Amino acid sequence: MLENLKRRWKVNNGGLILVIFTFALGGSLCGYAARKIMALTAIEQEGLWLIVYLLIATFLWPLCVLLFSIPLGQFSFFKTYLVKIWGAISGQKKTPTTVIAIFASGAGSNAQKIIEYFQAKKDTVKIALIVCNKERAGVLELAQTHGIETMIIGKDSFLSEETYIDELKKRSIDFIVLAGFLWKIPASLIKSYPNKIVNIHPALLPKYGGKGMYGLKVHEAVIAAGEKESGITIHYVDELYDHGNIIFQAACSVTEGETANSLAQKIHVLEHEHYPKVIENVLNMQNRR
Ligand code: GRF
Repeated sequence: MLENLKRRWKVNNGGLILVIFTFALGGSLCGYAARKIMALTAIEQEGLWLIVYLLIATFLWPLCVLLFSIPLGQFSFFKTYLVKIWGAISGQKKTPTTVIAIFASGAGSNAQKIIEYFQAKKDTVKIALIVCNKERAGVLELAQTHGIETMIIGKDSFLSEETYIDELKKRSIDFIVLAGFLWKIPASLIKSYPNKIVNIHPALLPKYGGKGMYGLKVHEAVIAAGEKESGITIHYVDELYDHGNIIFQAACSVTEGETANSLAQKIHVLEHEHYPKVIENVLNMQNRR
């Protein structure tokens, strides 16, 4: 049950404790304040007393909870929570917004296409964060151009600490897109985002994937093997390099005299055409569940 709550509220263990604590403190304060107000109104009738008490408590409760959420660092959680409740009560059925973080360390041409694609769909998808491991990566300029927050991450903290996962949760990130991010994704991140991390690989997996298979090296290997076809693979991320369940593949021909550079260009065209749409399809499918 606690695992369900953590998934539903998108919080980790510490976050869950703080949220429950905020609920408890806010609820107690609300009950106390409502009783005090009732004492002042001096309504005698039994039935009427209860109705007025419940009305006061209903309106007071969000304020009390918000009040405690500030010192406990849970304000943004409760703000979103209360907006959702209000939406449900007032009957405004809002399509859920998926908040995405793109992990990229290169030029960011895929990141750019994804950002542009979802700009027209801001009601349902928000690209809120670019996570990068290189301080000078081109993708950081792209983030700046589009006013997207960035997070530079060091290898040690990525592999052995979980504080950056808290940062992702704090920003309400619920889906992660890898677009040219070269580090292996640690088990802790996969556990926090089960089936919520996708990657694109510039070849037809399971061939030409794995450790060291990135950039031009992939295309060189494809050409050296005399392949007549290469392509792209979009897949869920698991704990092995380029290994999780395949979601989508598209192929292109490897022609006579092909070079790694010319093949890379063909592959980029395929990536730009398909990656944003495939992400959208995955989100639609997951949101329908
Ligand atoms: C792409 O070819 C992708 O398949 C691979 O990394 C490359 C990133 O390119 N995972 P870009 O930075 O998006 O241009």
